[in-house]
Amino acid sequence: MGEVDPAFIQDLEHRPKLSIIEAEGIPLIDLSPLYAPDPKAIEGLVREIGNACKDWGFFQVINHGVPLDKREKIEIAARKFFAQPLEEKMKIRRDEKNVVGYNDTDHTKNVRDWKEVYDFLVEEPILVPASNKPGEKEETQWFNQWPESPPQFREACEEYAREVEKLALKLMGLIALSLGLPEDRFKSYFKDQTSVTRLNHYPLCPSPQLALGIGRHKDSGALTVLAQDEVGGLEVKRKTDGEWIRVKPTPNAYIINVADTIQVWSNDKYDSVEHRVVVNSEKERFSVAFFLNPALYTQVKPLEELTNKQNPAKYMPYSWERFITHRLLSNFKKLKAENIQI
Ligand code: SIN
Ligand code: FE2
Repeated sequence: MGEVDPAFIQDLEHRPKLSIIEAEGIPLIDLSPLYAPDPKAIEGLVREIGNACKDWGFFQVINHGVPLDKREKIEIAARKFFAQPLEEKMKIRRDEKNVVGYNDTDHTKNVRDWKEVYDFLVEEPILVPASNKPGEKEETQWFNQWPESPPQFREACEEYAREVEKLALKLMGLIALSLGLPEDRFKSYFKDQTSVTRLNHYPLCPSPQLALGIGRHKDSGALTVLAQDEVGGLEVKRKTDGEWIRVKPTPNAYIINVADTIQVWSNDKYDSVEHRVVVNSEKERFSVAFFLNPALYTQVKPLEELTNKQNPAKYMPYSWERFITHRLLSNFKKLKAENIQI
């Protein structure tokens, strides 16, 4: 067995199992009715989406309308970017002032993840007012940091994000319909979106039974659209029994999951579900995640149309800005306290 730094070692109860449960996986949904001329076809699709959100919080989609060449281009760009020396990647490292860029020291629930990431914003720059950060007098700006190499990296990233954003917004429309709401009910929340695309690289790990690529967590935005490669490793916590279920890679499919903000908007009709990534001693893994996030000034709360006397709001309103800045910055604070280089 190879050596891994103790910072990566999961507590016994969270270590991955060697046996993989792939039976009865997350639903696979064909989105072709979206592009069909018959509006009736949508009804069945809306029902399928609603059931998948309720039963699993996760599903895969095919015939989604995202051109394959855009996905291939960003996957190639990501491989080339991560293959560069650390020193090169550190030139665009994210920090407390600008939370997007490269990072190789992410922690989840206080354990270090076996991965490196590169994040970019879908709309930028984002101005963060000083008001919510005690001791800060000036607003900060989040903006994309593009690497010098590989060539066409930026173009590949931007083109991909534009396509996946369209898919994410279509899915929000279907989710709205499945909740009995108008299709455009969520649209205004994404006008000044804080959505992020994240390239993930999970290098070979000498002790995949001890560490995780990313520890168990829920996503905090509205919806995530994930492209995983053919290696696989994503595991989803099944709602019925809490068992970890491996999501089998399906070529050119996207994995969709409901995140915390939809859970709150829907007043718990749809749950944000825990997931994690298992690593591998033989094959490195790459994935691309698109996190659809609302505008910074959004007050997140259960939708009035979905609450009443019998079903009162389960959440107090909270500011997306406060939530996301706290979440992003707490990682830096913690690392500083531990004197870990970030
Ligand atoms: C994530 O949960 O953010 C990443 C999932 C993956 O790489 O499969
Ligand atoms: Fe996630």
